[in-house]
Amino acid sequence: MSEPQGSKLIRTLLDFDRFTADDVRAILNTTDVMAQVLERPVKKVPALQGFTVATLFYEDSTRTRLSFERAARAQSADVMTFSKGGSSVSKGESLRDTVATLEALAVDAFVVRHPSAGAAHQVASWTDKAVINAGDGRRAHPTQALLDVATYERSVDAPVEGRKLVIVGDVAHSRVARSNAALWRLLGADVTVCGPPTLMPQHGGLPEGVTVETRLDRALDGAHAVMALRLQQERMHEARFASPAAYAEQYQITEARLAGAQDDVKVLHPGPMNRGVEIDGRLADGPQSLVTQQVAMGLPVRMAVLYHLLVGKGGSA
Ligand code: CP
Repeated sequence: MSEPQGSKLIRTLLDFDRFTADDVRAILNTTDVMAQVLERPVKKVPALQGFTVATLFYEDSTRTRLSFERAARAQSADVMTFSKGGSSVSKGESLRDTVATLEALAVDAFVVRHPSAGAAHQVASWTDKAVINAGDGRRAHPTQALLDVATYERSVDAPVEGRKLVIVGDVAHSRVARSNAALWRLLGADVTVCGPPTLMPQHGGLPEGVTVETRLDRALDGAHAVMALRLQQERMHEARFASPAAYAEQYQITEARLAGAQDDVKVLHPGPMNRGVEIDGRLADGPQSLVTQQVAMGLPVRMAVLYHLLVGKGGSA
């Protein structure tokens, strides 16, 4: 992986702002190596022996947290788990002091999830240890986008270049939408975002070249991949739609609504899903769905990211 000028790429993965397509391909190539490791009878290598990875989560998570912890252990790293709940945050300890406390306990990498946009950048400015953004507010969730690209490419055995991704739903509040739009564009895909006008980003905030379309049938025309997003009511400060049922009536992704998409269209969802709202449950469980494969891909992708940041480029685990 080459280091972009002046960036902290080797030490941090905060977003894709300073990444080149070659940087991303290097991580995805290492992901393939890690996937082979996970097919062995003993799914463990010594690559990160002696390193300690801390998951620093100020927001709830199932997939991201568990897969990062498993990814670290699968490479023989030690893992420290910090959750806001049950910690000294309730006594007033700041994020900065919490980072300093973990650093004093000999942490080598911080995996940070926080409700505030920019929190992982702040952590990276306070420590010279590796920092990975595991989701900061509505801003970025880069490892989710990496696993989404890897899952799609594996399912069709082809790169995303020239393919059309349509992201449907609450784009305004979605870090998954922003990171996927940035990454698929970086790799040469077409990206369209779609949803009610009240759930579209109001002041730009999307990478150059992303199409905004509020009519679902137009957006889905010719789509190779469709990603449904959850309505993130925890980030909404006022009502953005009449009701989940009213939203579903117009924007729920169903098999029938995919009629204008490519015959081999794939359906993605980052999870957690609200079945019957943004996605039809039968579609989520059907042959076009990559939802389970996305979760599984989180493991080799996060193994690859930890490896690149802690050990360096390449990957011969
Ligand atoms: N997709 C995702 O970030 O899921 P979790 O919130 O469960 O980590």
